[in-house]
Amino acid sequence: MVVKKAELEAVAARKNQYPPEDLAEVAFAGRSNVGKSSLLNLLTGRKSLARVSGNPGKTRTINFYRINDAFRIVDLPGYGYAKVSRSESEKWGAMMEGYLENRPNLLKVVLLVDIRHAPSAQDVQMYDYLKYFHLDGIVVATKADKVSRNEMQKSFALIRKTLDMGKEDLIIPVSALKRTGQDELLSVVENLLEQQNER
Ligand code: GTP
Ligand code: MG
Repeated sequence: MVVKKAELEAVAARKNQYPPEDLAEVAFAGRSNVGKSSLLNLLTGRKSLARVSGNPGKTRTINFYRINDAFRIVDLPGYGYAKVSRSESEKWGAMMEGYLENRPNLLKVVLLVDIRHAPSAQDVQMYDYLKYFHLDGIVVATKADKVSRNEMQKSFALIRKTLDMGKEDLIIPVSALKRTGQDELLSVVENLLEQQNER
């Protein structure tokens, strides 16, 4: 798939701010700072479509990006950011639940994990949640430029085990820095969209 057109269509905290359910959506979830916004920029070939920051907690809303007028990629606010207050973390929970549990056009949620670390308890919780709603199956290992090939294989095994991933579930390594992995992820997304159209 070639991304010819990518635009921010909506920034939402509540359901009445979501765009219509007319297009299929694939969302990106993961801890704050894992690289969700960077991955979006990598996939779309736009340097600063989504805001990237070294300070965790940059994306605090649900951001809908319309791709080729054919589907959307949804950048979800990150979790695990230590400095958030309790009321903020409750707001985050309500915002995520509001979207993940009430979005018929949501096909999958790609879970992003940092290739250098074992998935956190919150990553496990998130993946379990996605399993429950049948939104699981694709994990992206970010910052692949930070490890050697050998370390990468070990990391895959650890991610697979910690998240208790199914046999068919995918782990795709990406690097926004080296610009690798985006073609594989795009083709996975393309297959998802095709399967959806055949239904
Ligand atoms: P929140 O919006 O806080 O949830 O974070 P996010 O998941 O959107 O992360 P973001 O894309 O803003 O990236 C966080 C930091 O990681 C930035 O400093 C990025 O430059 C860096 N980063 C992202 N992807 C990569 C990568 O593939 N390799 C390396 N080396 N750094 C990366
Ligand atoms: Mg972000």
